[in-house]
Amino acid sequence: MGKTLDQVRPDLPIINGPLPGPRARAVIERDERVVSPSYTRCYPLVAERGEGALVEDVDGNRFLDFNAGIAVVATGHCHPRVVKAVQEQAARLMHMSGTDFYYEEMVALAEKLAEIAPGDMARRVSFGNSGAEAIEGSIKLARWSTKRDKIIAFYGSFHGRTLGALSLTARKAVQRAGFGPLIPGVVHAPYPNCYRCPVGQKPESCAVECVGFIENTLLKTVAPPEETAAIVVEPVQGEGGYIVPPRIFFDELARVASQHGILLIFDEVQSGMGRTGRMWAADHFDAVPDIIAVAKGIASGLPLGATVARADLMTWPPGAHASTFGGNPVACAAALATIALLEEELISNAARMGAYLMDRMREWPHRFAQVGDVRGLGLMIGIELVRDRETREKAPQLRDRVVQMAFERGLLVLGAGDNSLRLCPPLVITREQCAFALETLEECLTAAIA
Ligand SMILES: Cc1ncc(COP(=O)(O)O)c(C=O)c1O
Repeated sequence: MGKTLDQVRPDLPIINGPLPGPRARAVIERDERVVSPSYTRCYPLVAERGEGALVEDVDGNRFLDFNAGIAVVATGHCHPRVVKAVQEQAARLMHMSGTDFYYEEMVALAEKLAEIAPGDMARRVSFGNSGAEAIEGSIKLARWSTKRDKIIAFYGSFHGRTLGALSLTARKAVQRAGFGPLIPGVVHAPYPNCYRCPVGQKPESCAVECVGFIENTLLKTVAPPEETAAIVVEPVQGEGGYIVPPRIFFDELARVASQHGILLIFDEVQSGMGRTGRMWAADHFDAVPDIIAVAKGIASGLPLGATVARADLMTWPPGAHASTFGGNPVACAAALATIALLEEELISNAARMGAYLMDRMREWPHRFAQVGDVRGLGLMIGIELVRDRETREKAPQLRDRVVQMAFERGLLVLGAGDNSLRLCPPLVITREQCAFALETLEECLTAAIA
């Protein structure tokens, strides 16, 4: 008897029929009646189970997940060691509320985060349940510890959707429209996107005008240094298009911040936890933020956020900040198992697989007229699609078409920014799976451009 397709390629996608299948259609119809229409679903994937980098839908179609639940399942879907840690913890103690009581899992995770945070200094940790909450904690701590109220953030940034985090977010008008007034005291600076320099410079003549704008305009007009608590920055801009700044940007930011006693807050919610091939994106630039916001990949899918701060800043009194569920024992157990796996093998796998992907994708701007730029660190890779390589006019519809075509071929990718594809697979991804993704994307690009 011949081998079935499933036996021949158990680690790769299999699509059984037109998408969405009948069961998926039924779920989507129910969803459309009761779930908030504010969610952005770009294709009809109705997930039923996941294992490693694979996701199976309710009709038995198998997909290769190059989204990792939007950069969340760092250790892959349902890693056996994370599942075991969760099951054991859930059977022993599911909740106690670290705001009012002690349990060892929270202490152990805080110790671990303090140990792995960038820089050689004492750290303290406050726990929440999401990226937005990690940012809220960061903003509050910066204001509280400096007694200043202004915050500088960047255009194109995404920091979450709660009102404080949303005030920093400057990605899409629809995310802010109708929700004002947002918190006062937040101003924005251009982000160093060297492919589309916001101040019209060329990389070779750049004098880091993005930081110059902070220093010479914002601090001299709307955000005087003595009133400015913090600069909040994504070390790799995520939702904005997977944009990697030059190293000098971080050196300059640190110079300006330290000169004026302004705190540097790094939002590592998407770029942290090994995704870039180092534990933190900050590590690529030898940057040492005062406060780090962490979430997404930290617990492989369980809700957890953390504000990791210099210990000498986090001296606020009992009652100043806390969250009932934040640092829940089950989420902490998942995070401890996740970090162990990252340190043992997955961060180095992210670096290796990222290099493997990049090796081939680096050629794409030469091979495909409408690939303008390929950039990234480790497994955080953006591919910018343009109508014309010379004018760099954005091609959002082409991007959307490629996303759709990849889905139909069993590869899950999403967009980032107006016109970029984002690749952020789980860190367990194999070379064979990367090769499949490369071939599929090349096929989609060829077909979509034709
Ligand atoms: C960089 C960054 N910060 C914050 C957030 C908000 O995280 P959450 O959706 O968990 O609130 C996100 C989410 O995409 C993010 O990418």
